[in-house]
Amino acid sequence: MKNKKLYIKTYGCQMNVYDSSRIKDLLTSLGCISTKIIEEADIIILNTCNVREKATEKVYSDLGRINKMFKKRKKTATVIVSGCVAQTEGKKIFQRAPWVNIVVGPQAYHTLPKLIGQLSYAKRHLTNLDLNQNEKFEELPKPSKPSTVSAFITIQEGCNKFCRYCTVPYTRGREFSRPLEEIYREAMHLVSKGAVEIFLLGQNVNAYRDLSSGNELVLVDLINKIATLDKVKRIRYMTSHPLDMSDALIDAHGSIDKLMPQLHLPVQSGSNKILKAMNRRHTSEHYLKIIDKLRQARTDICFSSDIIVGYPGETEKDFQDTLAILEEVRFAQVYSFKYSPRPNTPAAELSQLPEEIKTERLRQLQALTRKHQDEFNAMRLNKNLDVLITNKGKRPGQATGFSQYLQSVVIEDGAKHIGNIIQVKINKILSNTLKGEI
Ligand code: SAH
Ligand code: SF4
Ligand code: F3S
Repeated sequence: MKNKKLYIKTYGCQMNVYDSSRIKDLLTSLGCISTKIIEEADIIILNTCNVREKATEKVYSDLGRINKMFKKRKKTATVIVSGCVAQTEGKKIFQRAPWVNIVVGPQAYHTLPKLIGQLSYAKRHLTNLDLNQNEKFEELPKPSKPSTVSAFITIQEGCNKFCRYCTVPYTRGREFSRPLEEIYREAMHLVSKGAVEIFLLGQNVNAYRDLSSGNELVLVDLINKIATLDKVKRIRYMTSHPLDMSDALIDAHGSIDKLMPQLHLPVQSGSNKILKAMNRRHTSEHYLKIIDKLRQARTDICFSSDIIVGYPGETEKDFQDTLAILEEVRFAQVYSFKYSPRPNTPAAELSQLPEEIKTERLRQLQALTRKHQDEFNAMRLNKNLDVLITNKGKRPGQATGFSQYLQSVVIEDGAKHIGNIIQVKINKILSNTLKGEI
């Protein structure tokens, strides 16, 4: 693989971003050279997401574009589809896009060097869709330097919850947690390469459970252990499920200073009827109780959520219940989606709501969540925020970073402070960013 130019495109969630960086480290450790220019690539990897219809269709349209590019430049490349579309579609990808060479699932990408080595004129199509989760992490090389001072670590993968709309249990397999010691070593390594913030990732991150030592170790144990690293200033985790929000974890928000006062805790709907139909296994009352306890543990904590509108059977009343829970919690940020049927999932078999209803509900919901987000940000005007400065800004001297509440902040004259947490006085509120000065 010496000197082969490698291009990777990532779709979907932060876990996919993490996977892409591990794939890149794996192949560059064998001699590949990473490029951002697809036209010059010898190996093209699309690391894909299957969670919503749009994300999946994007992959196929990009594959079409790649084929056109091959025809134009009269040279092909090794094309690899990895990630959750690969897991779901499998060999079907070769039918729709025969110029794809390798289809590899999210738990099998450590076998890419072997698969690439096996390709030949006679063997132009190879797949590996194994779901043996523990194997991957044992075989990957150490991660390289994190791209900013904020570093991600996948600590848990897969899901046992089987929400009826969701593809993740089928693409990532069953719940699996990495051993605490292994994660701690990865955190130490990232810290030695400059990380000051550790973002713990998992599809069900708060269900983290390490039984490998004989004792049960949970997310709070892991957070406590990482907090002992002096150079770690901030810890976050994502995405959590309300059912796994234990009292000990809630209390940790009050007692561990390094744990940031921001939590992504998707509620999906405010209607108990729809939550039940979705198999979420929590009610809106249960959810609000958790929010309440968290606010008692840490008064300034803020929340973000995912919401699905137009789930099969959602009536206008159900939708109003969703708006009501949004009014109650007042999320700092909401990611909202129209329900889209996904392969293999039970909800895809149900009768679907008309597209116009989904569009109109999404519009109303986004107007409300925009208002809440703007109000949340406006409260910071002329106040100080603690900003971890992570990147250079567009203009000389400028920098960007994140507040303790995960708001994006642009700071004039901040560039010399990258890697530090600085008090920034906010003087301007834009739609998705705040501006301020040191
Ligand atoms: N594990 C997380 C998130 C999983 S996927 C959780 O339990 O919340 C990220 C988000 O995509 C979900 O929170 C959900 O809001 C959305 N999503 C998942 N399947 C979807 C579908 N079929 N249609 C629309 N949105 C979907
Ligand atoms: Fe999907 Fe539900 Fe599992 Fe989240 S908890 S990954 S939404 S099945
Ligand atoms: Fe998408 Fe797979 Fe992540 S479906 S959201 S890339 S776990």
